[in-house]
Amino acid sequence: MRIKEKHLIIANFKMYLSGKGQVSQWLRNFDRDSKNLELIESRLVLCPPAVSLADFASNIELDCVSFGAQDCFWQDEGAYTSGLGSKMVSSYGGKFVILGHSERRKYFGETDEAVSHKTSLAVKNRLHPILCVGENADEKRREETKEVLLNKLEKNLQFIGKGTIEEVVICYEPIWAISANNPDHLPTANELMEARVLIKKFLVGKYGQSAAERVRIIYGGSVDSKNYREVCVESGMEGALIGGASKMPYELVKIAKIAEEGK
Ligand code: PGA
Repeated sequence: MRIKEKHLIIANFKMYLSGKGQVSQWLRNFDRDSKNLELIESRLVLCPPAVSLADFASNIELDCVSFGAQDCFWQDEGAYTSGLGSKMVSSYGGKFVILGHSERRKYFGETDEAVSHKTSLAVKNRLHPILCVGENADEKRREETKEVLLNKLEKNLQFIGKGTIEEVVICYEPIWAISANNPDHLPTANELMEARVLIKKFLVGKYGQSAAERVRIIYGGSVDSKNYREVCVESGMEGALIGGASKMPYELVKIAKIAEEGK
């Protein structure tokens, strides 16, 4: 199903909310902070740890909120201990899945090959993959950002055709900017615009102008309500992947409202 909203604010809870009590508290606070939340041009997507997905989906009933997972395996089911299938995610209310996050690549040995199969199967199972691509600090220093991004896009989207690319969200997430908590560690407006244009050009080249126009390109890395406008709105990004700030529901709601206003 096509993504209708112009902006996506995606909460990546990572391995936080580590107990039932914390989940209940977060949900209570979200209920309080999201009263009267109405988004038309924007959508808030909550990606909690998989064990809490059902709690999130059954407790939050706002039209402008969707749910997702932080990874999915490249098989539907079978003898794959600890695997999480995209069909499982959708049957528990998920519509999105974060794939290829740098923490998955670093700590779980995720390869480009795996990411490409996961992306393809997620789309087949009607989930929107949020494909994360970005350079690390060394690659940035060596001015290899462009090559890194193009290489990851080429490999990770190898099984995605013209008819389904619009189901995918591309997240530019420079690894050096993740959890940096330091304004000096945010990309400049120029760097963001360059990355966005590069990704768009890649999509136009591979899928044609009209398909590329329908793909949302978002930014991730130390986004909060104070810097969202400057980092995302001004660079033309169509939303953000939010890590640390997701722990605070009022922050997420505030960011979603700024995205909606800045449409
Ligand atoms: P951060 O995380 O907002 O804490 O930098 C973003 C992410 O890794 O998704």
